[in-house]
Amino acid sequence: MSARRPQGRSQRGRARISQRVGELSPSGIRKFFDMLATMEDVISLGVGEPDFATPWHISEAGISGIEKGYTMYTSNRGMLELRQELSRNLSARYGLTYDPDSEILVTVGVSEGLDLAMRAIINPKDEVISPEPTYVAYEPSTLLAGGRFVPVPTTVENNFRVKAADIEKRITGRTKAILLGYPNNPTGAVMEKADLEEIAELAQRHDLVMISDEIYDQLVYGVKHVCIASLPEMKERTIFLGGFSKAYAMTGWRIGYAAASEEIIEAMTKIHQYTMMCVPIMAQMAAIEALKSGEAAVKEMVADYDRRRRVMVKGLNAIGLSCFEPKGAFYAFPSVAVTGLSSEEFAEKLLIEERVAVVPGVAFGGSGEGYVRCCYATALDEIREALRRMRRFVQRHKS
Ligand SMILES: Cc1ncc(COP(=O)(O)O)c(C=O)c1O
Repeated sequence: MSARRPQGRSQRGRARISQRVGELSPSGIRKFFDMLATMEDVISLGVGEPDFATPWHISEAGISGIEKGYTMYTSNRGMLELRQELSRNLSARYGLTYDPDSEILVTVGVSEGLDLAMRAIINPKDEVISPEPTYVAYEPSTLLAGGRFVPVPTTVENNFRVKAADIEKRITGRTKAILLGYPNNPTGAVMEKADLEEIAELAQRHDLVMISDEIYDQLVYGVKHVCIASLPEMKERTIFLGGFSKAYAMTGWRIGYAAASEEIIEAMTKIHQYTMMCVPIMAQMAAIEALKSGEAAVKEMVADYDRRRRVMVKGLNAIGLSCFEPKGAFYAFPSVAVTGLSSEEFAEKLLIEERVAVVPGVAFGGSGEGYVRCCYATALDEIREALRRMRRFVQRHKS
C-alpha cells in the first residue's frame, strides 16, 4: 500500500495555485454580497458605487463612437485627446503640469493603475506603508507585486487621519513607498494640508515613492481636497491615481488614469501594453466628454450626496451608533460598540434580522473592528428606511 494518501480533487487543485495567490485572503466584502444575492427586500448600504446612471451626454459620447465605427484598439497609453484633456484638467484643478505624451497613462480604472504602480516599483520584500482602515485592494496589490504591506492604524480620535509620526515609526531600510487613499474608503476621512505637508517632507527625507489614490477627490463636502503631488517637490516622486468611476458615476466603463514622472509612466506602460493593451475606446470617448462638459453633473451629484450624508450621519448618531463626520467620498463609518457585537456579527445579524446590508469594518483591516461601513450613495428614502430598521436592531441589541 502506498504511504501517500491519495490527494483529493480540491487538494490537487490547490497545489496548482501559486503560493502568492494561495496565501491571499478573499475580500471580506464578498461573503456579504453572496448572502445578499440570495435575499429579498434588502436595503444595501454595502456597495461602494453611485446609484446614479452615468450622465446621458457622457454615455452618448461612447455610444456615438461605436455608431461611427470607433471599435478598435487605441494607443497603449490611451487616446492623445484624452491625455490632453487629463493634462488640462489636472492643471486647472491642481496647478500641476503633466506632459500628455509621456507623463499620463489611461488605465482600466484606478484598480489597474494601482496594480501597475505596485508592479512598476516593488522589488521582492519591499515595504509599502499605508493607513488602515484601508481600501480592500491595497494590501493584495502590494502582496501580488511581491512586496510587504505595512498598515498604520488610524483612529476616530484623530478623525481617521494618518500622522507623519506614525508613518515614520514604521519606516525601515526596505520601505519603498507610502500609499495614501484620501478622501478615504471606508472612513470618509479627508487629510488636512498641514498633515500632508509633514508626510511629504517625510517622503523626501527618506526618498520614498508616494502613491496617492485620489479617486474620490471631487467628492468632498465643505472642505477643499489637497492633492499631495501639488505640494512643493512632490510631483516627481508621486504616482497620482485618478478615476471616473465615482465622480462621474462611471464604474462600469472601467476607466481611470495615472499621472507620474516619465520613468514611472514608461514602466507602468510596459506592463499595461502586455497585459491590457489599452482601455476600451468607447470608455475613452465617454471620458473625454466627461472632462469637457461633465462638471455640472458632478456638482449636482455631489450636492445630492451631501444631503444624504447629513441624513445618514445625523440618523446614525441619533440611534446610538456614534459616527464622526465624514467630509469626503460617500461612506459613513459608525461605531457599533453600543451593541457589544463584533463588526462581523453586527453586519450579519443586521442583514438577517432587518435586511439592511452594511460592510463590517474588519474587512478593511484590524483597526476597522468595532465599526461598519455604510455607503450613502443610496436614495434618501432608502437611507431613511434603513435607519428605521437599524434603530429597531440597535434597541434590541443594546448591551
Ligand atoms: C479607494 C478606491 N480606490 C480604487 C477603487 C477602484 O476604482 P475603479 O473603479 O476606478 O477601478 C475604489 C472602488 O471602490 C476605491 O474605493
